[in-house]
Amino acid sequence: MLLDGSGLGKDYGGVRALSEVSIRVDRGEVLGLVGPNGAGKTTLVDLISGAQRADAGTLLLDGTPLRGPASSRARAGLARTFQHPQLAPDLSVRDNLVLGRLAARHGRWWDLVRGIATGVLHPRSASDDAAVERLAAELGIGRLDRAAGDLTLGEQRLVEVGRALGQEPLVLLLDEPFAGADAHGISGISDAIRAVRQRGHGVVLVDHNIDLVSALVDRMMLLELGAVAFDGDPADCLASPQLRRAYFGEWAEGLSDVS
Ligand SMILES: Nc1ncnc2c1ncn2[C@@H]1O[C@H](COP(=O)(O)OP(=O)(O)O)[C@@H](O)[C@H]1O
Ligand SMILES: [Mg+2]
Repeated sequence: MLLDGSGLGKDYGGVRALSEVSIRVDRGEVLGLVGPNGAGKTTLVDLISGAQRADAGTLLLDGTPLRGPASSRARAGLARTFQHPQLAPDLSVRDNLVLGRLAARHGRWWDLVRGIATGVLHPRSASDDAAVERLAAELGIGRLDRAAGDLTLGEQRLVEVGRALGQEPLVLLLDEPFAGADAHGISGISDAIRAVRQRGHGVVLVDHNIDLVSALVDRMMLLELGAVAFDGDPADCLASPQLRRAYFGEWAEGLSDVS
């Protein structure tokens, strides 16, 4: 088991965002994490990556307890993207990609931004630059000297995926990587996910586009109101009453609000 989380819980003030959630990712497995808005998907990614502290539960990465700040979890082999992309806007696409390489050795990429901007800390090696060129070609990212702040949302997502891949993570956490991406971005990210699986590493793919997710994943986990409503075969999940309730129940309630 590559990632093994159990009993995970998180409250935000009075809001119970997650309770008693277990999540497992095997070697070479892509797990789809779906659920309507507010179900707790991002919170779960935050607890695993260390962006938020869990109130309850345990996490193991490749058998070793996963604790402490996001920087040590990055070094231990976790990489993530964000629902709202967090690139260093003044740095070039190339330098943003290099940050992923450095983060694998030195910790969180955003702790490194100041250093890379001044060229003082953690100088990159020729192999970092070569890896970045390779990643950009694989994902179809061109014109690497553009400032990241000038990219479209879809392009920013591609660069975030590239930055995370550059960390060569054991487990890659992708929070809605397809939102705002065009066909070119979707195919680049899909290929990258398959390549991670091929390498025997794990992926957690968050999206509420269930059709897109189900075509890519080996297993599907449905969150509803902070709890696991389904965990199993993607086709079974698609056909499950739990999925209908989670999505269409919410939709029907929305309709009755309007009328
Ligand atoms: N930083 C936060 N402070 C307070 N409440 C939050 C915070 N982040 C998320 N929540 C709440 O936790 C619940 C789960 O949110 P989230 O994990 O973002 O869901 P999802 O990613 O599935 O849309 C929601 O009710 C949301 O409003
Ligand atoms: Mg979210």
